[in-house]
Amino acid sequence: MMMVNSRAPQSETAALRERLKELTCLYDIAKVASQPNASLDAILEGIVKVLPAAWQYPEAAARLVLDGNTYANGHFPASCQKQSADIIVNHKPCGVIEIGYAEPPSDSGIDLFLPEEQRLLNEVAHQTALIIECKQAEEDRLILCDQLRHADRLATIGMLSAGVAHELNEPLGNILGFAQLAKKCGGLPEAAKQDIEKIEKASLDARQIIQKLLIFAGQVPAEKKPVNLNEVVEDGLYFFNARCAKEGIELVCDCCQTFPVILGDPVQLNQVLVNLVVNALQAMGGPGRITVQTQVLEHHVRLVVQDTGPGMPQEVLDRIFVPFFTTKDIGQGTGLGLPVVHGIVTAHGGTIYVESTVGRGTHFAIHLPIHNASAQRTRRP
Ligand SMILES: Nc1ncnc2c1ncn2[C@@H]1O[C@H](COP(=O)(O)OP(=O)(O)OP(=O)(O)O)[C@@H](O)[C@H]1O
Ligand SMILES: [Mg+2]
Repeated sequence: MMMVNSRAPQSETAALRERLKELTCLYDIAKVASQPNASLDAILEGIVKVLPAAWQYPEAAARLVLDGNTYANGHFPASCQKQSADIIVNHKPCGVIEIGYAEPPSDSGIDLFLPEEQRLLNEVAHQTALIIECKQAEEDRLILCDQLRHADRLATIGMLSAGVAHELNEPLGNILGFAQLAKKCGGLPEAAKQDIEKIEKASLDARQIIQKLLIFAGQVPAEKKPVNLNEVVEDGLYFFNARCAKEGIELVCDCCQTFPVILGDPVQLNQVLVNLVVNALQAMGGPGRITVQTQVLEHHVRLVVQDTGPGMPQEVLDRIFVPFFTTKDIGQGTGLGLPVVHGIVTAHGGTIYVESTVGRGTHFAIHLPIHNASAQRTRRP
């Protein structure tokens, strides 16, 4: 009787002590996660640091593996007895948390791990998954805000460009028209004729710039019809073969087997391809590889133009769609190639994705909505 009485309070005390450790652990994790501006890495490192204290023996080591990255408090033994719990983020397993002992502690009995500890580990894995989901949602929100700001900025520049282009179009038309009329006057001295021709050429150049600004601003209607993107690519690249061969550039054309049909303006789509390939060629300025690919995705057709050129730093990437932004010398580029690409792709209901790494190259991917009627036709035998 004496023994029963003395053991009961002792195990209750031990249970209470374990419960207190669990609560402290969960509280510490909440504290780590709620630190303002803490990165996900810092939070995960904090979690593995506070975990071992909640286990029975101080020799416990904790390790968290997430998407191939490992976070551990000190050295986590390669082979050991351990408890583990999966981290399920958005219904997908993407990592694991483990607690292990390199050697079973000398005073440990058969119960090296307690069932309560497994429950705690499951709860920590669940809380970790919630923290990761929150961080990812926050990152997505920031990216979306950034994209919205960028789109908003381009829309404002587009409105301004459209206004300037419309205002200049009329006087420019007059300059060109009167220059052409003046050229036809008989008896003009040769020098005057040459001057008029210069006015005519300069007006035509200016009109091209205005035309590009109008395309960027979405003010040039596309003449849409079902277009097979493979044909646009094959026809467009034909003219680059000789130039690439001369410059030691390998031009790889990787067109998909299925018909990538979209509703589009073939002339404008050719312009997109040409502008991207010319940029790649100009950026490389020497041997390398340009790959042009077409792919059919579920709802989109994808056009990829990828080069092994010098790539772009972030400050260039941030401005490539802004009209007149160029890093090229005067006379080499007007900075309207990519704004034109942007205008055409937007007018076709598409999206542009750019990835660039300095020293490794640039990858442009353009998604255009698939033309459903044609897609259905191509699926029939
Ligand atoms: N593939 C690429 N690799 C590296 N930089 C690029 C690439 N494509 C574009 N750029 C950068 O983006 C800038 C803007 O390109 P964009 O085509 O709009 O104008 P541009 O080529 O300078 O002039 P334009 O096309 O009017 O002749 C370029 O000056 C260059 O710095
Ligand atoms: Mg260009």
